[in-house]
Amino acid sequence: MAKFDFTKRDSFGSRIGVIAAAAGSAIGLGNIWRFPYVAGENGGGAFLLIYVGFIVLIGVPVMLSEFTIGRRAQRNAYGSFKLLKPKQPWYLIGLMGIAAAFMILAFYSTVAGWTLEYLINAISNNYAGKTPEQLSNMFDSFVSLGFKPVIFQVIFMFLTAWIVYSGVRHGIERYAKILMPILLLIIIVLGIRSVTLEGAGEGLNFLFNPDFSKIDTSTVLEALGQAFFSLSIGMGTLITYGSYINKKENLSTTAFEVSAADTAIAILAGVAIFPAMFAFGVEPNTSGEGLVFKILPLIFNEMPGGFAFQLLFCFLLIVAALTSTISVLEVVVAYFSEELGVGRKIATVIAASSIGFLGIFCTLSFGPLQGLDLFEIFNFTSANILLPLGGLLIVIFVGWFLGRQNVYDEISNSGILKVRLYKVFLIIVRFVAPIAIALVFMHGIGIIRI
Ligand code: PFF
Repeated sequence: MAKFDFTKRDSFGSRIGVIAAAAGSAIGLGNIWRFPYVAGENGGGAFLLIYVGFIVLIGVPVMLSEFTIGRRAQRNAYGSFKLLKPKQPWYLIGLMGIAAAFMILAFYSTVAGWTLEYLINAISNNYAGKTPEQLSNMFDSFVSLGFKPVIFQVIFMFLTAWIVYSGVRHGIERYAKILMPILLLIIIVLGIRSVTLEGAGEGLNFLFNPDFSKIDTSTVLEALGQAFFSLSIGMGTLITYGSYINKKENLSTTAFEVSAADTAIAILAGVAIFPAMFAFGVEPNTSGEGLVFKILPLIFNEMPGGFAFQLLFCFLLIVAALTSTISVLEVVVAYFSEELGVGRKIATVIAASSIGFLGIFCTLSFGPLQGLDLFEIFNFTSANILLPLGGLLIVIFVGWFLGRQNVYDEISNSGILKVRLYKVFLIIVRFVAPIAIALVFMHGIGIIRI
């Protein structure tokens, strides 16, 4: 078995590159596709409040913990734990992350495939003049087709593999840096159009006015899962990216900035979707996974220059999805190449084709394999179980086992940086986050009842 040469590891080239790559991982279909439909199904405002609470209280500290582990060890997610605590089973967190990566990429690439269909429809102007019912039918009949959605999914997996194949700095960083800011701009434009539609007020009310009667324990778990999923935390993605971060970067500000950008995009996506949904008379909890694909074209139809905006939006949605899928694939590829001694290129091919194969079953669960429901099983299990569990173990590791001096050195760049909220961070990773995650988790899956 060929040994991996750790002196030749790739790395991110600049501060802006680090932010772009990590934000690129965080910002994706989770914000624009998943957040609106999960928030819609879980009551809107109250869900948003709990979600944002989790991001601040748990999300940012978990993200910083992952960066800390990765940059300390300079290894993939599995190898980092092996190196930092040899002979202890912490590396299982890394293996769990690899399992989560398989599941996430399998169902995520299904949705990413739908975005390609969306692009083609936008180019052919197929959405023009359609009613909400017609759009809804278009989506439902497309996803149930079988063959076509699978082809789009496979194309997407190819794109992902191709970028990962070309390496970290040249692949991931270059693409993320340019395109993410344009995405932000276009979502703002969309939001403005949405809130100025007639009858939009009700949607804003739904999103920002919490109705706590709609909250139960499963909602709280959904909010936690969505926070983890959206920030790309709990499975070692940001351990892996952290391992490519230069020793001079400030990890805490990076974690703050990435989380803030991610949350802003999710909320903006909500501002674009909910007002339009109410304005067009669509119920917030009836569209499921198809929600954004059914609503967004309606908004573009109502916009001057809507055709061009929609095209640009589709393109950027695809890019946002790609900067996320490459980060998931990178977790597996880094593991294969550093631990199993497989060359990076072969590792990419093996990982992408096996995940792609699994993904086909997810896509077909909307069509010929209806009832198998692999899509929903992977979606639920990864976000609501594996990621929170991974996050729980990660904060316990950093809070109690990595060693105070190690943690301080990594976060303060060996004492050079003043880290203002360091004490707060320690209290959170040692006590608050583990207790909160454990409680929500056990409650949500019904192990305890209070
Ligand atoms: N955070 C991504 C999104 O919101 O689309 C999805 C994701 C990427 C989840 C990477 C987990 C991950 F490790």
